[in-house]
This record gives sequence, C-alpha cells and structure tokens, in this order.
Amino acid sequence: MIRAAYVIRIAKATLDVTRIRFRNLAGTSGRLDAACRCVISTLRNEKGSPRSYVKVYLVIDKGDVVLLDPNRIMLEELPISEVKMARMLLKLYDKGADVLPRRGLLNLVKDLRHEGYNVVLVHERGENWMKCLSKILSESKEGIAFILGGPYGIPREEEERLMSLNIPMISLGERRYLSSYCIAVLNFLLQGGEEFVRQVSCSI
Ligand SMILES: C[S@@+](CC[C@H](N)C(=O)[O-])C[C@H]1O[C@@H](n2cnc3c(N)ncnc32)[C@H](O)[C@@H]1O
Repeated sequence: MIRAAYVIRIAKATLDVTRIRFRNLAGTSGRLDAACRCVISTLRNEKGSPRSYVKVYLVIDKGDVVLLDPNRIMLEELPISEVKMARMLLKLYDKGADVLPRRGLLNLVKDLRHEGYNVVLVHERGENWMKCLSKILSESKEGIAFILGGPYGIPREEEERLMSLNIPMISLGERRYLSSYCIAVLNFLLQGGEEFVRQVSCSI
C-alpha cells in the first residue's frame, strides 16, 4: 500500500484550552470539530480498524502543525467521537512532542517533498481525478501527500504560494464537499477504488 499523508489546513482552528468549550466545540474552537472528523476519517478504515499507512498533519490557526502518526500513537485508543478526539488533540498539543510550532503550510510542504512525498492539492478547481489520478500515483513511488482545506478553505495567500510551487491539483468534481468526505473518497481510490470505478463506468 502506498504511503500517504493528509495535510489539513484548518485555518481558524485553535488548540487553546482556555477558549474551547466542549459543549459547543464547533462554535468555540474555530471548527476544530471539522479537523477531528478528518482525523477519524483518515486513521480508521470502514471497519473501524486502524489504517496504519497514513498519517495526518493538522495545520491550525497561525501555522502550528500537529502530527498524528499511527507509529507514534496508540491507534486502538483513537476515539471516534469529535469531542473525544478534540480532547486527545489537546493532550498531544500540550505534550508538544508531535507539534511543529508555527511551521506553517508552505514549510511543511517543502519538508514532505524532501521526504519523497509527491504533494498534491485537493481542490474542486483542479483536474478531474479520473483524468489524472493514475499518472499522479505512478509518480508517487515514495508516497503521496494530499493537501486539503477545512471549512474556511485554504487562506488565499497560502493557496497562491502553493500554486507557485507547481503542485498538481486534483478535483473530485465541481461540487464542494466536506474535507472529511473528500478524505473518505481519496482513501477509497487509494485502496484500488480507481480501478473499480473504471470497470463500472466501462460496463454501463
Ligand atoms: C468545505 S471545502 C472548503 C470550502 C471553503 N469555504 C472554500 O471556499 O474553499 C473543504 C475542502 O475540501 C476539499 N474539497 C471540497 N470539495 C472538493 C472537490 N469537489 N474536489 C476536490 N477537493 C474538494 C478542498 O480541499 C476544500 O478546501
């Protein structure tokens, strides 16, 4: 299975415990709830088992990066509720071992490229996945990293800088979906779903 990373830019999300009210997670955390849904969508498969070949980088607020790596956390203990996941993220953030303070999206992209990942921007205005996914995967021998925005999208300035790095842009269609939904689709495609979709569309 290809090594995969999801980089999720949740522009206004905070892990500041003094601001978050768990009874109103979405309203008090800058949509950390959406980040939590993305983590759940990424690290667990449809049967609820850990998906060990992926990792997640959350790029929050002013650019702090939080890494969720199955090799560094007990996946069996990964919560499936947003509130419990938010509590776990706060603990990770507080410990600091898997946090890159103020690293920012652009530097993270450079780090991932340096590690051999083929970095791809997931964007509704990109090239339709049916036309480009096979090529992108064949160019991703050492791994693929998908960048997605959260509910507020990727800040314009960061998006423009990403485009200037000539990062391929892949689209799942013209409609705009939740990022956690996009991750579920991408996971399906990575697990061989691309071939499945091609066969079904050839037979109808
Ligand atoms: C809810 S959307 C962001 C909406 C945000 N208000 C904006 O203006 O960008 C969350 C993220 O999911 C991804 N996304 C949503 N729909 C997509 C599509 N059809 N194809 C590819 N990516 C998509 C993008 O990465 C997007 O930043």
